[in-house]
Amino acid sequence: MKLPNKPMQLAVVLGALAGFGVLAFLMINPKQGYAPKQPIFFQHKRMAGDPNWVTDANGKEVNLGGYQIPCRYCHTMPYEGRHSTLPSTDICMNCHSVVGQDKEWVLVLKGYWERGEPIPWVKVHDLPDFVYYDHSAHLNAVDDKGQPKLDCVNCHLDVKNDSVVQVRTKFNMGWCVECHRKPEMAASTDCVTCHR
Ligand code: HEC
Ligand code: HEC
Ligand code: HEC
Ligand code: HEC
Ligand code: HEC
Repeated sequence: MKLPNKPMQLAVVLGALAGFGVLAFLMINPKQGYAPKQPIFFQHKRMAGDPNWVTDANGKEVNLGGYQIPCRYCHTMPYEGRHSTLPSTDICMNCHSVVGQDKEWVLVLKGYWERGEPIPWVKVHDLPDFVYYDHSAHLNAVDDKGQPKLDCVNCHLDVKNDSVVQVRTKFNMGWCVECHRKPEMAASTDCVTCHR
């Protein structure tokens, strides 16, 4: 939904509230489980996941799991920026100019790189435009002991071991507000926090 200005957006949001009632949107849950097909069969579990060494038929040790590559190696969270970023093909090629040259999907990856094309990843998590959300504000929030309140796992759960990324939470307003309401989070539940 594209609306001309912020007051208009808020007016529409408040109008919708009067129309549909609060309960309606707290109960609908159309997003959980959304897992679109990606242009490359990229599996987090083979890279960010935990290792799983097994002995194959020839008695050779092989890792069917991952290599615990840190999330932020691929998803940078610029301090100023609201959004996380997807890795550029260059980041993949740091390893895949050498690693996995016999793997079908690694060859597809190299194809994009050689043609100089960005990989057309399909966005999985996507909030409506009238919602204000900021990754860095969440990741920089600290408790009174100076410890971070949140890590990726709090909101993306076990994506680390996914074959295909999926929305693992309800991902609706109820989900946001439920966490904001927790005393240890001390986050605002004012409408304007998320609808500005
Ligand atoms: C080797 C690089 C790499 C690492 C390491 C990695 N990711 Fe990803 N991630 C990707 C790529 C590529 C995509 C886009 C393709 C897809 O959605 O499967 C992606 C997609 C995602 C998405 C979905 C984005 C969207 O469109 O909504 C989330 C959430 C995510 N990663 C979280 C994580 C977390 C949390 C970690 C650490 C546990 C992690 N990633 C580690 C490369 C990586
Ligand atoms: C830090 C090194 C590293 C980076 C960076 C990296 N990978 Fe990998 N990737 C690996 C390793 C190691 C394997 C396992 C290779 C094997 O099993 O032969 C692998 C496997 C794969 C496979 C094959 C999985 C399978 O089981 O067939 C694909 C596809 C892949 N990576 C895509 C990507 C993409 C896309 C990116 C960039 C978003 C990326 N990788 C970034 C190290 C990396
Ligand atoms: C407080 C909950 C929360 C935490 C913590 C969190 N995310 Fe997200 N993430 C979201 C939401 C909400 C979106 C959808 C944003 C949108 O559509 O504008 C998202 C989207 C993404 C995307 C897609 C790109 C984008 O920004 O829209 C990636 C990649 C991602 N997250 C990775 C991560 C990684 C990696 C971490 C840890 C360093 C992390 N997230 C921590 C809630 C969170
Ligand atoms: C798992 C807990 C959790 C979830 C889920 C969560 N948040 Fe937050 N949110 C926080 C915390 C913690 C803070 C920071 C509180 C502080 O220390 O100031 C915060 C702060 C914010 C802020 C204020 C940022 C600023 O610029 O000051 C906004 C906006 C926000 N969240 C939006 C959202 C939206 C929208 C969603 C759902 C899509 C969401 N949050 C989901 C925990 C969460
Ligand atoms: C912590 C963040 C947060 C707070 C606080 C918040 N909202 Fe929302 N709101 C959201 C998100 C996220 C959505 C989008 C939900 C979706 O796409 O399912 C949303 C959607 C809505 C919608 C549209 C519902 C629909 O059916 O699409 C209305 C209306 C709304 N909010 C009103 C309010 C009002 C009024 C308040 C204050 C009492 C409020 N919101 C507080 C995050 C928030």
